[in-house]
Amino acid sequence: MPDNLPGAGTGPDTLRAFIADGLERARNRTHALTECDDEDLLKQHSPLMSPLVWDLAHVGSQEELWLVRDVGKMEPLRCDLDQMYDAFQHPRSARPSLPLLSPEESRKYIAQVRAKALDILDRTPLEGSPLVDRGFAFGMIIQHEQQHDETMLATHQLRVGVPVLRARPLAAAVLATDRTTDRSTDRPALAKEVLVPAGTFMMGTSVEPWALDNERPAHAVDVPDYWIDTVPVTNGDYRCFIDDGGYRNPRWWTAPGWNHVREAGLVAPKYWERDGDRWIRTRFGVVEPVPDREPVQHVCWFEADAYARWAGRRLPTEAEWEKAARHDPRSGRSRRYPWGDEDPAPHHANLGGSALRPSPAGSYPGGASPLGVRQLIGDVWEWVSSDFRPYPGFSAFPYQEYSEVFFGSDYKVLRGGSWAADPAACRGTFRNWDYPIRRQIFAGFRTARDAVPAEVR
Ligand code: AVJ
Ligand code: FE
Repeated sequence: MPDNLPGAGTGPDTLRAFIADGLERARNRTHALTECDDEDLLKQHSPLMSPLVWDLAHVGSQEELWLVRDVGKMEPLRCDLDQMYDAFQHPRSARPSLPLLSPEESRKYIAQVRAKALDILDRTPLEGSPLVDRGFAFGMIIQHEQQHDETMLATHQLRVGVPVLRARPLAAAVLATDRTTDRSTDRPALAKEVLVPAGTFMMGTSVEPWALDNERPAHAVDVPDYWIDTVPVTNGDYRCFIDDGGYRNPRWWTAPGWNHVREAGLVAPKYWERDGDRWIRTRFGVVEPVPDREPVQHVCWFEADAYARWAGRRLPTEAEWEKAARHDPRSGRSRRYPWGDEDPAPHHANLGGSALRPSPAGSYPGGASPLGVRQLIGDVWEWVSSDFRPYPGFSAFPYQEYSEVFFGSDYKVLRGGSWAADPAACRGTFRNWDYPIRRQIFAGFRTARDAVPAEVR
């Protein structure tokens, strides 16, 4: 096992400091995303999303449930809130009509919970039961808050009105300036696709301390050889599909996809608009030309699947995606990230949310996989062809409502995290899922194809 995993090869105090820092970073982000006027926090900006003030108190409510009551065995702070902030009691569309805590009350409540959680962190041995081993429950709560922070960013993107979020530009050193040619040699800098040779690899994990139940256990999967795109599909690529009448030709769509396109009247990714002969988009309240070289985002699974068919290709399976991201052909091992086992650093991937956008395709040479596949982590969540299903040997932990109730053919899997995901909630094994019609999430895709066997070529 790599010795840089949280809790491995380090003393309990180092792990406690790591956890405290993770909790604090998540909280800072939550506060930054809820700095707007009370009216904007209370309002429902879309029936797909909770009012921001619901997310704000919900992160505290989960923290109370797991850290204060379960790990800490302390008296409940606010039993009366359990129902209201239980995601399964009320669909998002019904949440604005609940007697929610005000923004001020919510902030006070989550601060009280946090103070208790930090006391509990100080006095809890981080071993002895699966819930606390190497800080799992704390890691789960950090990831939970960071996932809601990403959801809150999607809500902000849906808000109509003035931008409140200020972007921090990405460092020039990690950005591709031209992905098609290498200036010094005038030769293509990046191959369009990469061949992943056939063979077994280990999918999922049994050792990553904060991996959630759906990522477990590690299991061998045999994957025939396939080609996968070096970079995600870009806005420029996707525009060719639109220009070619892709949205009007049933040939590219599955039957449910075609029904959906017609019923919803889809003609382009969400937030795009035609402006004369060019496309513009609205991004956090700012209208701008659609940048050709940025990975396309705000497309649903049906659009991704149709584009791939139009391009003579297909979406990768979940196993193909993970093999491209984790398999190291030299050692035969599966690693935590495409670049190795180190936690994400700014030169590896566009994560954390502060850029407010994906980086151009071909960026992050430092985050490439051994075979040269780029931007698997960060930038955009990537739709894969697979339904969200349990791995062989799955067992729900610590509660069925995290993953188990979502397994089946209703949900498609997304991999790799977006620019809006925090490193704590993103790794080579991390699995996200959503309905195939959803477009408000920061999702794009890359394509793949079977390798044609030599005798057929
Ligand atoms: C894994 C992103 C689909 O937001 O519904 C948050 C994460 N689970 N609270 C979601 C989650 C419980 C989940 N996703
Ligand atoms: Fe939640």
